[in-house]
Amino acid sequence: MSQSETLAQAARWLREARRVVVFTGAGVSAESGIPTFRDDSGLWQRYPPEQFACWDGLLRTALVQPRQVADFLVAVIEPIASAQPNPGHRAIAELERHVPVTVITQNVDGLHQEAGSTTVREVHGSFFEVVTLSGRFVQLLSRRDLQDIVARVRSAQAGPLKLLRLGLALRPLIRLGPTSIQRPKIVLFGEAMAEPDWSNAQRDSDECDVMLVVGTSGLVWPAAMLPIDAKRRGARIIDIDPGEAGQGDLWLRGPAAGVLPMLLQAAFG
Ligand code: OAD
Repeated sequence: MSQSETLAQAARWLREARRVVVFTGAGVSAESGIPTFRDDSGLWQRYPPEQFACWDGLLRTALVQPRQVADFLVAVIEPIASAQPNPGHRAIAELERHVPVTVITQNVDGLHQEAGSTTVREVHGSFFEVVTLSGRFVQLLSRRDLQDIVARVRSAQAGPLKLLRLGLALRPLIRLGPTSIQRPKIVLFGEAMAEPDWSNAQRDSDECDVMLVVGTSGLVWPAAMLPIDAKRRGARIIDIDPGEAGQGDLWLRGPAAGVLPMLLQAAFG
């Protein structure tokens, strides 16, 4: 099938759909300036996940090389702090005007909500929510708060960077006190999925008849099982990605910010 035939078929499926799930990964935010994880310039290429993607690795690195952890945190937080939704996020939000939609995202950047999507399951949590170690809500941060944290980490980086100095710069996102620990509600490797979002996402995914899978390598479990299970159940799966085809029925090859508005236009004019 040519790309234009694939687009026409995907548009037909969207028009016929009763419930749509849009399952997104880092690629949907690439054009908002947030790096992906596994592309050539991805985060895990620069910062090995065994050192930076789990709490014990991060803490161990912070004890001996606080500067490396500071660099990593700036690389993660700075793009999120200044990001804005791109035409891909906005097209996903606009889809709600035509059909019931749930967005299930592995991203922690808040951009789907900011674009106007009303039902968003953040299965890997959110960088804007601060919780205690046991998961109790502490406070919501704004993009502005994250910008302030980046500015403080940057100025701490200017001098001899000690762990204590880094810790102070990171407040209130991370607070390591003698009696309580605060952290962003993001899911690192080895941690349980964010609840209640993950349970809701599994239910929504069970109920959809079309799933758009946008900008994810599909390598991280258990999130990656959602499209596989939905397909097994008979849902129609449409992959949108400039890189590899996923395991869907149709593959719209290209960047999300280009393909999604085109798909919406083809489906609903
Ligand atoms: P990956 O970095 O693994 O995959 C990004 C996908 O986005 C790839 O398939 C790219 O081809 C695609 N992509 C790149 N640019 C794009 C664009 N402009 N438009 C659309 N797609 C584009 O990111 P994820 O699949 O999201 O988890 O990674 C999943 C999880 O691994 C993350 O949530 C994170 C990470 O470790 C945790 O930290 C628990």
